[in-house]
Amino acid sequence: MAHDPVPGLLARAAEQLGAHFSHLPHTPEIAPASLDAMAAVLEETADRLGDNYPYFHPFYAGQMLKPPHPIARAAYALAMAINPNNHARDGGRASSAMEIEAVAQIAAMFGWSSYLGHLTSSGTIANLEALWVSGQLAPGKRIVGSAQAHYTHERISGVLKLEYAAVAADQRGRMDLDALEFELRKGDVGTVVVTLGTTAMGAVDPLDRILEFRDRYGIRVHVDAAYGGYFKLIQDGLDEPARRAFAVIDRADSIVVDPHKHGLQPYGCGCVLFRDPGVGRFYKHDSPYTYFTSKELHLGEISLECSRAGAAAVALWATQKLLPLTTGGEFARGLAAGRRAAHELDRRLRLDARFQALAAGPPELDIVVWKARCESAGQASSLAQQIFAACAERNLHLALVQLPEQWFQTLRGMNPGQEAKLVTCLRSVLMKPEHEEWLDRIWVEFGVASQQVTEK
Ligand SMILES: Cc1ncc(COP(=O)(O)O)c(C=O)c1O
Repeated sequence: MAHDPVPGLLARAAEQLGAHFSHLPHTPEIAPASLDAMAAVLEETADRLGDNYPYFHPFYAGQMLKPPHPIARAAYALAMAINPNNHARDGGRASSAMEIEAVAQIAAMFGWSSYLGHLTSSGTIANLEALWVSGQLAPGKRIVGSAQAHYTHERISGVLKLEYAAVAADQRGRMDLDALEFELRKGDVGTVVVTLGTTAMGAVDPLDRILEFRDRYGIRVHVDAAYGGYFKLIQDGLDEPARRAFAVIDRADSIVVDPHKHGLQPYGCGCVLFRDPGVGRFYKHDSPYTYFTSKELHLGEISLECSRAGAAAVALWATQKLLPLTTGGEFARGLAAGRRAAHELDRRLRLDARFQALAAGPPELDIVVWKARCESAGQASSLAQQIFAACAERNLHLALVQLPEQWFQTLRGMNPGQEAKLVTCLRSVLMKPEHEEWLDRIWVEFGVASQQVTEK
């Protein structure tokens, strides 16, 4: 592991924080005997944690896992001295204010200065709140998402007792507009979930076109940008359809983005935003236990969760202070670097006769999917699994995904009736900025592993 700057960063800041409380009577120090016991347990903990894939390393290019920035880790650890709870200002005064500021910066990235929003413990909870508001506004109406939307939407709808329907995705993994309009014509759809950056392949649904349906069919448009939201900062560098979708994100009714995916945060940090602050009325409740120490807004008053990690807000605030969410800034350049790595990998795969990339073209964001070129889907799936395992043996960690086989064939090469056949593909999420620099080494390891498998 590379030198870790966090302990050094933390020591001085912890002393400074301690000084704010030095007027209090001293509390007992931790006894040396229990320090020894803690050290022993921590050693065991380190060994247990060693049983992990190296998520922090550029050779980990599999699932959506991005290491938190050192400033986020340091700020989170610093906040642990206080362990604030952002439910109410009673439990997290400074961290509530920091959450409000950090969320305002995220909203501003999407072009909103007036909104209602807060952090959540995950993208799932953030989406749950968005769909809960949908259900409050249009009870009994259906939720519709694409077949490539995250599975969470169907489950959330079940929890909320709202009917859910999945509409087909096209060869690019984007929501098919004809299939959507077919559902909308039935007249009972309340909300359409539009994904900007699907989990499987980073596809960007055509938000601009879907918004055209809003008035005609009286629907609400919820954008799940848990993965892709930050690409708003580099929208002008995206291909035209994705650029057009991100350009109108401010017209959505609600948006979810996960700072714990592309936002360099530790897990436990999602975010939900509503364009109409008036939806706060649905959250309205009183608490017999809290909301006493300040007349200012307590975040628990606009959130379904009660206790939430104030440390998550502190880490996000510090990260955005260091790396503001600006077009052309260092954070945005990091996103662009990962995307260039994905495009380069996709380009090389297209030149390799052993593989097939998506027929519709290069990745929209920074997720690459490809399949082995074989006679049958079964053979291709088996080869993908073997290559995945052979890469892991060489410390290169990729991922697998099941996609319709026809998405890898040109329209001319397609047979009727092929639609439903799924094939296991290789998948690589190149979300670390370092992936660009490491792509040659990744390619060498992938090449050796693939050769071992195909020559067997
Ligand atoms: C598009 C999308 N939505 C929602 C989620 C769920 O988010 P979380 O895992 O933070 O609950 C994910 C997770 O990968 C996602 O990619």
